[in-house]
Amino acid sequence: MLSIKGINKTYHTEDGDEILALTDIDLTMEDKEFVCFIGPSGCGKTTLLRIIAGLETPDSGTIFLNNEPIKKPGPDRGMVFQEYSLFPWRTVQKNITFSLELKKVPKAQREDISRRYLQLVGLSKFANSYPHELSGGMKQRVAIARALVNDPKVLLMDEPFGAVDAQTRNRLQQELLKIWEQERKTVLFITHSVDEAVYLADRVVVFSSRPGRIKETIKIDLPRPRDRTSVDANMYRERLLSSLGAEIENTID
Ligand SMILES: Nc1ncnc2c1ncn2[C@@H]1O[C@H](COP(=O)(O)OP(=O)(O)OP(=O)(O)O)[C@@H](O)[C@H]1O
Ligand SMILES: [Mg+2]
Repeated sequence: MLSIKGINKTYHTEDGDEILALTDIDLTMEDKEFVCFIGPSGCGKTTLLRIIAGLETPDSGTIFLNNEPIKKPGPDRGMVFQEYSLFPWRTVQKNITFSLELKKVPKAQREDISRRYLQLVGLSKFANSYPHELSGGMKQRVAIARALVNDPKVLLMDEPFGAVDAQTRNRLQQELLKIWEQERKTVLFITHSVDEAVYLADRVVVFSSRPGRIKETIKIDLPRPRDRTSVDANMYRERLLSSLGAEIENTID
C-alpha cells in the first residue's frame, strides 16, 4: 500500500556544495506493517521520512499511498518527531485537537476524539496540563495521540523515543505496540537502537552510509509479545549489529 519507487534526493548547501542524500530507494510496505529504518547518522533516513510526509520533494522517483502519488502533507500520514514538538502555550488536550480545529471539526466532536486518544495513551488525567508540567515520556505520548487524531493510515516516527531514559523507552515501546495492534496502522519508525528495532519491527530496513541506499531488509520472525532476552532476539541483534557495523566503519573518514 505504501510504495516507494526510485527515489533520489540531492541537497544544495549554501556554499554551493551538493549532498547526495538518497539514491535509488525502492521499498514497498504492506498494510499494517511495522517497519524500522536503521543506519549510520547522515544516511538519509529523516530525508526519506520527510519525503513520505510530503514535507520534502525528491529529485526523481515517486511514493504512492494506495496507488495515489504523494505530493504534499495530508491527514493520511501522521508524524512524530524526536524532539518534543508540542505547543507550549496549549494544554495537552488543545495540542491533540489542534489539527481538528484547523479542519473546523465542531468543539463537542473534538473533545470526544481527544478523550478517546488521551485514554489510549493513558493521559486522561492530564488533559488540562501544559507541556512543561509533563515528563519527556508523557510529552511523547501526547505527540503520538496528536499524530493519531486524524486517523492516519501511516504513522511516521523519527526516533520518537531517543530522548527518554531506558526504562521509559521500554515502556513506550510496549505501549506503542499495543496502540499499533489496536489501531492497525502502518508504522515507519526510525531508530539507532538495534534493541528497539528487534523488539518492534516486522521488518528492519538497513541503510548504507551516505549516499543512502537500502543495504538490506531483515524480517524479524519472532512471535509477539517478544522476549527481549531470548536467544532468537539476540541472534537478530547480532545480525543487525554486524550489518550496521560495516556501514558505520565506512562513514569514518
Ligand atoms: N535541508 C538540508 N540542506 C542541506 N543538507 C541537508 C538538509 N537536510 C539534510 N541534509 C543532509 O542530507 C544528509 C542526510 O540527512 P538526514 O537528516 O536525512 O540523515 P539521517 O539518516 O536522518 O541522520 P541521523 O541519523 O543523524 O538523524 C546529511 O548529510 C545531511 O547533512
Ligand atoms: Mg535523522
